Amino acid sequence: MTHKIAVVGGTGPQGRGLAYRLAMAGHAVTIGSRDAARAAEKAEEIAAKIGAPATIGGAENANAAASSEIVLLAVPWDGHAELVSSLAPELRGKTVISCVNPLGFDQNGPYGLTLEESAAEEAQRLVPAAAVVGSFHHVAALSLWKNDGPLDHEDILVCGDDTEAKDLVMDLAAAVTGKRGIDAGALRLARQLEPLTAVLININKGYKTRSGLAITGIKEHA
Ligand SMILES: NC(=O)c1ccc[n+]([C@@H]2O[C@H](COP(=O)([O-])OP(=O)(O)OC[C@H]3O[C@@H](n4cnc5c(N)ncnc54)[C@H](OP(=O)(O)O)[C@@H]3O)[C@@H](O)[C@H]2O)c1
Repeated sequence: MTHKIAVVGGTGPQGRGLAYRLAMAGHAVTIGSRDAARAAEKAEEIAAKIGAPATIGGAENANAAASSEIVLLAVPWDGHAELVSSLAPELRGKTVISCVNPLGFDQNGPYGLTLEESAAEEAQRLVPAAAVVGSFHHVAALSLWKNDGPLDHEDILVCGDDTEAKDLVMDLAAAVTGKRGIDAGALRLARQLEPLTAVLININKGYKTRSGLAITGIKEHA
């Protein structure tokens, strides 16, 4: 089944990479940006990389969200609350996916910010009528964009309180890895998933790699 998906902040590396994978899998993707022309330009870049016919366009964030059933938030933590609040009318009643990682960086490298709630929970609090799902926190933007095959050595963890929305996102994960995502639990577990990315970034630096997550002990879940 294919879906209409808006990628808010889709002009950045993470949004671009996820949009590329989702469009390649046949979903109708709209890149969102604060600037419609920038969104259109990014959509063209992604369409050119796909090469084959794909449904991908660009629009200002609110228009992108309004025209889609699923909205993926791929924006920085700085300004997150303002952005989500501004899009509240367009997000109501929709599945909203957050891959936002609230991280800090200092002389010791990356670290998870100490917050009272995760980015995903903040989005849910700001738009109670949306079904917010946390996912795609740990897959690197460059892996999404550079590798042409499915990232089948990685797992996509999915957390959320709305079972139907979580199920939908677990299915969408197959566009990225070739297999269904893993149910990681309730939305509050985004408090553990988001800062875990700091560990992966640190590993990337130390081992000069693009690390990802793979969960053992689960029977085939394709
Ligand atoms: N990069 C990765 O490998 C990676 C991996 C996993 C998760 N993530 C998470 O995914 C999110 C996006 O990452 P990214 O590296 O793609 O980020 P980014 O390049 O810093 O930002 C993405 C886009 O967000 C928009 N934006 C920036 N500041 C904004 C603001 N104050 N209000 C509204 N929109 C704003 C910009 O688009 P316009 O200027 O066009 O509006 C920008 O192109 C982050 O939360 C990050 O933690 C990233």
